[in-house]
Amino acid sequence: MPDLPHSPYSLDAAQPAALDPHLLIGVASVDHEHGRLFDLLRRLMAMPGVAPNSNEFTEVLCQLGSELPAHFHSEENILKSCGMPAAQVQEHLEAHKEILSQYAGLNFELMTHHPQRADVLRMIGAWIILHIELYDLSIKDYLPMPA
Ligand SMILES: [Fe+2]
Ligand SMILES: [Fe+2]
Repeated sequence: MPDLPHSPYSLDAAQPAALDPHLLIGVASVDHEHGRLFDLLRRLMAMPGVAPNSNEFTEVLCQLGSELPAHFHSEENILKSCGMPAAQVQEHLEAHKEILSQYAGLNFELMTHHPQRADVLRMIGAWIILHIELYDLSIKDYLPMPA
């Protein structure tokens, strides 16, 4: 499991029903996709006692595996056209690549080891919540000001 930076958004706390308003970007399609990803995280967290390599957990994890790359693809189109400096865009793209690599690594680990449920949830939380905090929120700086 990779070491994760601390997020002020605690995954140990009771999960709210929807994405916290401070995590909204202001682009409807992106916020909608983030909401869907958050919902998948919530579904996983709402399965206490369910092992990460169980069929129930794997089903949601597979859905995450299809929605994450689709979301990254659509977000990257915005990143490349919003006027953000190229180096910052590149850093963001690398972060997406790293998450997809961690997703593949997690699937391998689930086949070969029995990672702790809390560690798995913390990692998935970082892919969604922490990534929005550290990277996606900066998109807001490049959106046109509301009229
Ligand atoms: Fe992103
Ligand atoms: Fe995102």
